[in-house]
Amino acid sequence: MNAWTMERRMYTLTLLSLVLSGVGGLTVNIPKKEYEYARGDNITLPCTFTLKTPPPKNPFYIISWSGEVEGIDIEPLILTYYSNLGSTDVKSQYEGRVSLDLDLDKGKANLKLNSITKKDNKEFECRVQVPGDDEGKPSDTTRLVVLVAPSTPICEIQGKAEYGKNINLTCVSEEGMPTPIYSWKSQDVRNMPRVADPRTTDKGGVLSLYNISKDASGYYICTSSNKIRSATCNITLSVMPPSMNIGSTAGIIAGAVAALIALIIVIYCCCCRKKKEEKEEFTMGAREDEYSDKQPGVVVVGGVTSHRLG
Ligand SMILES: *[C@@H]1O[C@H](CO)[C@@H](O)[C@H](O)[C@H]1NC(C)=O
Ligand SMILES: *[C@@H]1O[C@H](CO)[C@@H](O)[C@H](O)[C@H]1NC(C)=O
Ligand SMILES: *[C@@H]1O[C@H](CO)[C@@H](O)[C@H](O)[C@H]1NC(C)=O
Ligand SMILES: *[C@@H]1O[C@H](CO)[C@@H](O)[C@H](O)[C@H]1NC(C)=O
Repeated sequence: MNAWTMERRMYTLTLLSLVLSGVGGLTVNIPKKEYEYARGDNITLPCTFTLKTPPPKNPFYIISWSGEVEGIDIEPLILTYYSNLGSTDVKSQYEGRVSLDLDLDKGKANLKLNSITKKDNKEFECRVQVPGDDEGKPSDTTRLVVLVAPSTPICEIQGKAEYGKNINLTCVSEEGMPTPIYSWKSQDVRNMPRVADPRTTDKGGVLSLYNISKDASGYYICTSSNKIRSATCNITLSVMPPSMNIGSTAGIIAGAVAALIALIIVIYCCCCRKKKEEKEEFTMGAREDEYSDKQPGVVVVGGVTSHRLG
């Protein structure tokens, strides 16, 4: 549908609503409740109006557009047009980026907005004022949704690409509005599409591969897409036998040697302790013997004493 037929449709709709409602006053209309555009686009938000019938003679128009994020924008006004001066005041914040696409006879007051950013995610209002025509619907609103293409995703391998291991291939776009959806595709080493292992899962950009073998090697492509665009990243997976490299072999040998040394130390210590304990037992025993030798001695002495007393 081109802009002209759209405009005509809106016009017809407006007239129809006028007829149906039976209100003959000024009527402003924005055809859609929401418009979606990509960030960076140059866009037009349409606005049409009809005057009461019969229209005032030589009507004087004040047409304004405002855009507001509720609770954030203190000054929602974007621009104001005065028909008597034939001039448009544009707020400095929008200077050079907005203009009015105006045709008073056709009842057109579209807002043109260049290089839209995420900040333009706002509720826009088109308002028309005509002296002597203040009944009806003098304004209408619409929401602008600024979409963001997915940024080039980052593909990564999580886990060790070795036989028998479980690994994840991850894919993430930093940006994207709406949130991108990810999908993985892969080719084997001969560039043929792969018959996926039934346990393989592809969820939220994470491709999980289980008990991988040489067959899992190949080329993997992730596509990150939302309603406006898509972007891809890719990764080459080469699955290796479990590493038995020099480093790990040396590690094993070193470990074995260390264990042996530890064992020797333990054995040595045990023997020493045993000898020492034997020694200690011997000396303690000797002391006890001395004591018990003395005991009878005391008795004897006591006996002697008692003898003496007796
Ligand atoms: C938008 O308009 C500006 C000029 O105001 C132009 O430089 C730019 O290339 C346009 N962008 C697109 C996406 O058409
Ligand atoms: C792969 O992802 C799953 C789920 O997200 C997780 O449970 C698992 O630990 C991950 N495996 C590796 C090797 O990162
Ligand atoms: C992993 O795959 C190998 C063949 O590649 C198979 O012999 C083995 O049983 C599998 N292990 C598990 C836990 O499924
Ligand atoms: C794979 O990714 C690299 C960048 O990481 C890119 O240069 C190359 O074109 C990509 N290949 C395909 C087939 O998409």
